[in-house]
Amino acid sequence: MELISKSKEWRHLQLHKAEIAKLHVKDLFAADNHRFDKYSIKFHDILFDYSKNLINNDTMPLLLELAKSIGLRHKIEEMFAGEKINSTENRAVLHTALRNRSDEPVYVDSENVMPQIYEVLDHMKEFVESIHNGSWLGGSGLQITDVVNIGIGGSDLGPAMVVEALSAYKVPNLNVHFVSNVDASDIQSLLNGLNPETTLFIIASKTFTTQETITNALTAKNWILKSVPKDKIENHFVALSTNEKACIDFGINPKHMFQFWDWVGGRYSLWSAIGLSIALAIGFDNFEDLLAGAYEMDLHFRETPFERNIPVIMALLGIWYANFFDLASHAVIPYDEYLKKFPDFLQQLDMESNGKYIDKNSVKIDYKTGPIVWGTIGTNSQHSFFQLIHQGTQVIPVDFIACINNHNELENHHRILLSNFIAQTEALMKGKSEAEVLAELKAQGLDDKQIKSLVPHKVFTGNRPTNTILIKKLTPSALGKLIAMYEHKVFVMGCIWNINSFDQWGVELGKQLAKEVLKDLESDEKIYSHDSSTNGLINYIKQYKK
Ligand code: F6P
Repeated sequence: MELISKSKEWRHLQLHKAEIAKLHVKDLFAADNHRFDKYSIKFHDILFDYSKNLINNDTMPLLLELAKSIGLRHKIEEMFAGEKINSTENRAVLHTALRNRSDEPVYVDSENVMPQIYEVLDHMKEFVESIHNGSWLGGSGLQITDVVNIGIGGSDLGPAMVVEALSAYKVPNLNVHFVSNVDASDIQSLLNGLNPETTLFIIASKTFTTQETITNALTAKNWILKSVPKDKIENHFVALSTNEKACIDFGINPKHMFQFWDWVGGRYSLWSAIGLSIALAIGFDNFEDLLAGAYEMDLHFRETPFERNIPVIMALLGIWYANFFDLASHAVIPYDEYLKKFPDFLQQLDMESNGKYIDKNSVKIDYKTGPIVWGTIGTNSQHSFFQLIHQGTQVIPVDFIACINNHNELENHHRILLSNFIAQTEALMKGKSEAEVLAELKAQGLDDKQIKSLVPHKVFTGNRPTNTILIKKLTPSALGKLIAMYEHKVFVMGCIWNINSFDQWGVELGKQLAKEVLKDLESDEKIYSHDSSTNGLINYIKQYKK
């Protein structure tokens, strides 16, 4: 099969890019009063404005042609229908089934998976209630006050992000914590402040073989054993996994295990039992609202024509910049303290899904895939890296995300936050011309020599693309929509690039080598079996390790 980069649709876009490169978005705004209406979409409590992108009347139709040329509609249906689109692992991809709120069955290998999903949800609900109402007690008869989710990657980033994002919905008298890193400082500093008799650990691992998680889980077990009799420690551990046997071997009571399935990808798993920490933190009803919000976005994605389909448009704009402007990165800046972890979550979602150079036909591709996704909250980011976004030599498309209503309204904080949020997108689009800078410096009374040397530094080219995502309020339902929107964006980009967005073979080599290096670090011998750098580093560590 021909690479997408050889298609006529791709060629048309290359030619079109040459035309667009001659334009400035500020002129396109000046020429068209309706640009905002034309290039923004309202969906329930979310507004997606993409009018400040480097696009004109011809751009979206050409990008949509590209989407149609790969049979995108059919590919979307394949995912929702449980086809084994994760080809290298021969698995379906059904995070959408986890939040399916309809009566429609969803089949994997001719079996309707919805009854199993509901069964686990019921189990989660019952468990969450027993912790909240105090009927679940620790081994010494005390109520649980702290829950620690031990997991990494998808078994950490999604739940940790959601729990923080929905801080306003936190239930009283229960603290939910996250430990992910194998660095002892992570778990140690947390345990220092906890009481083992009132702490419950959730061991969250799809495979239940992840080195970091199992190491932390064993440390937690030893810590509990110091204060709780051995026959009572099962009251302090539950597991979320697809691997029942490994959970039992660890000492988890199978009744305290919450199952999910191989058709739930790690980075798409917060909707599954992996969301247990979320349900504990915000209550089961709010967890269900999160699922319901995501389901609404699923419906939008599945049913809306591509011209008005937010994830599709986001993805096509991503393709536009990555493949036709050759831009390597994409920043995401939430102007919301509670969304601080959203960029970290998106990094795994996007980069683990689409950071690949082999396509679905096992052929090496000749075009860019997954952008480098990065960012942090505004306004802090304005005072650190925004200089480069405004005047650096690389153009970086940015998604700006903010909520119209804040959970913490304190005097004029929120209006100031929003004014910065809006001003940044305007500045990146408009820039500042030489004439404007000249007039400004003259008004300040600078002499000609000073003006001449300062002007180039003060000019902003503008024409830097942004998307603006406005959420009415950060509710569980709105957050569900936001996350699902990005999940589907990543999926569409993977479809266009013809890569499998649902495997992650690129993380395996480092894991394998770490096992070898661990043996070498443990041995008393000097190591010569690697290259000279690796040997040198291992031996140097051994020399100085106390
Ligand atoms: O190393 C990458 C990865 O496999 C991720 O895809 C996954 O989310 C994470 O590790 C954790 O895996 P598990 O849930 O099996 O412990």
